[in-house]
Amino acid sequence: NNPPWPAYRGYHEYSFAHATMSARLPTILGKAIEDTTRTLNEQSDEEKVVDLVACIERMAELMTDLSGNHKLRPVIDDDEADVALWNKEIAKYFQGKDFMNAPWLFAEAYKYRRLHECFSTSKFWKEYDVFYRQKCDTFSRSSEAVFELSMRFAEPFKIDSSLSAAEKLEAERLMFLELTQVCLWGNSTDLSLLINMTEEQIKALQSTGGDHLAATEKNILGNDLGRLWESVKEVRSKTGGRIDFVLDNAGFELYCDCVYADFLLQSGLATQIRFHGKRFAWFVSDVTKKDWNWLLNTMVYGQLFPNATDVELESLRRLGQRWKQYEKEGKWVYEQHPFWCTGYTFWDLHSEAPDLFLHLSRSDLVFFKGDLNHRKLTYDCAAPASTPFDIAIGPMASSAGAPKVVSLRTIKSDVVVGLGSEGDETAERLDKEEPGWKISGKYAVVLLSEGRPG
Ligand code: F6P
Ligand code: MG
Repeated sequence: NNPPWPAYRGYHEYSFAHATMSARLPTILGKAIEDTTRTLNEQSDEEKVVDLVACIERMAELMTDLSGNHKLRPVIDDDEADVALWNKEIAKYFQGKDFMNAPWLFAEAYKYRRLHECFSTSKFWKEYDVFYRQKCDTFSRSSEAVFELSMRFAEPFKIDSSLSAAEKLEAERLMFLELTQVCLWGNSTDLSLLINMTEEQIKALQSTGGDHLAATEKNILGNDLGRLWESVKEVRSKTGGRIDFVLDNAGFELYCDCVYADFLLQSGLATQIRFHGKRFAWFVSDVTKKDWNWLLNTMVYGQLFPNATDVELESLRRLGQRWKQYEKEGKWVYEQHPFWCTGYTFWDLHSEAPDLFLHLSRSDLVFFKGDLNHRKLTYDCAAPASTPFDIAIGPMASSAGAPKVVSLRTIKSDVVVGLGSEGDETAERLDKEEPGWKISGKYAVVLLSEGRPG
């Protein structure tokens, strides 16, 4: 049940796997230790201090294992719902493997699980998120794009009633295409790649204007936007149409996802949206329940943007209030299945998390956001760029009950599929003309698989 192409591994020096495993992950862990030390220095209670010092010591051990390329040991049983899944996978496939020769996807996820273990085995710091400060801070520095969207979308979405039915549908289609791109490019602000960004850099990544979007559509190398619109229209014709988002990053990307989900609901294209987040800190910027709550509450009650006008702040508050109301009414539901924080790819979702697969198979459309989810969908292997998306995602397209799946992903790592029959040539040309095109986040894919009825 595996694809015929080899998975990327840390020792593949030509791939981003190598830079990540040898340099990026130790840097990220170093920053996590700095954050925890800062928290330690703010504590007064002796028991808590001693407990946190032990967490820092465990992080130092993890640093030794990672930078010394030690073998992967089982995860300590910390009563988390995912331990059994982790240790089963290690025992079955990765016994004796180390950080560099295990598949990159697995080794990288394992590092985040080990980081969580440093805290989950403590008494007072089980829920501590070493990336929380950074996530909140980046959102607070995204004011320009945040208010651009809130000023436009705080007012509930309305289509001019004097338009003909065909004109209304066209207006809706254009809005759908624009907001799908807002949601897509919201994925470029990923903190694991952009440590220490300036406000100017954040602004450049987040510009959401119409002209900008027209220009960026040509950077969507595999583009199923047209088919996606057709699928979404079908969801509307059902009563109780449900759309799911397998989330990626907190802060600005989550905010864009919510703007998009709000539109899908208001336009009647869906009647319920389910959001899937992580149970603990994951790949630096991924959404946890705390990040979700923080965003909604900061929009309504926060004082993050001292330079904003009253009108801007009011627009953000209204948007936040509406979203909180959706949550109360059950129109928006936040979930966190343990499978999302394991090392398995989604080729194993149906067999390792059958309850989750069944749950997703009841959705009318499942959006997978971001690079990591794309790597997991495609097994993170060296498939040719011309490989059709539904072949690349294997059982997530071919198993009975596979839902319609869309990947909205800015390209930040090696695996690239779904570029069409000329895709191999496109990839070769970009390799020559723009080395680094696979990690810059400048390019993207919007890929759809129709799924298979159960
Ligand atoms: O460390 C590499 C990686 O997993 C890449 O997939 C990507 O560069 C980043 O981390 C996560 O990106 P995203 O937040 O879009 O999943
Ligand atoms: Mg992420």
